[in-house]
Amino acid sequence: MSKILILNGSPRKKGNTSFLVEELRKMVQDKGHEVEILTLNDYDINPCQGCFWCYKDYPLKCVQNDVMNTLYPTVLDSDVLIFASPIYWFTYSAQLKLFVDRLVALHVNGGHALNGRKFATIFVYGDTNSKSSGVFAAIDSINHMISYFRGDNLGVVHGTGGDKLTVPDNTQLLEKLRELAERIDS
Ligand SMILES: Cc1cc2nc3c(=O)[nH]c(=O)nc-3n(C[C@H](O)[C@H](O)[C@H](O)COP(=O)(O)O)c2cc1C
Repeated sequence: MSKILILNGSPRKKGNTSFLVEELRKMVQDKGHEVEILTLNDYDINPCQGCFWCYKDYPLKCVQNDVMNTLYPTVLDSDVLIFASPIYWFTYSAQLKLFVDRLVALHVNGGHALNGRKFATIFVYGDTNSKSSGVFAAIDSINHMISYFRGDNLGVVHGTGGDKLTVPDNTQLLEKLRELAERIDS
């Protein structure tokens, strides 16, 4: 049994990203895993101030003392972290970026507290052509981060959503999500 943390960067609770996140939750809960979803838009996360206070003695918290200090223990307690976001302007959403930047506070002496964890990614975009959607820029960025964490990258599920809720009809995308759930299991 793994502890899975899904970081949902979409502000739309009934949107495409949230639908996929909920589907994945059901798939992995059915396999006996524990799942927590953080809908990042609900949290007042300050931008990283780049002060490197967190590098002095590595306290695993931030000098800003906002909600992130209450979220770090959940992050540290997770075996699998899943980044989920709509594509906004050719990358992932600002809600997710604020959270990701603040992971700087989880550095430890000579590395990062998330080193070696499992990671996966879900992206949805409006463009019917993935090449022009910007999703590959977002994937590149997330994959760099996962490599930095020396993580076990379980892969990316991505597909077209649009402004309406369309992913429930996208059987190919749902199949890819099921395959991701299988990889979490292995
Ligand atoms: C501010 C904003 C920027 C967007 N930028 C892009 C983009 O660069 N590429 C793209 O394909 N779709 C873009 N979209 C469309 C969304 O990615 C698409 O509607 C997606 O399905 C929204 O996901 P959600 O339903 O989870 O909110 C953008 C939407 C918004 C609101």
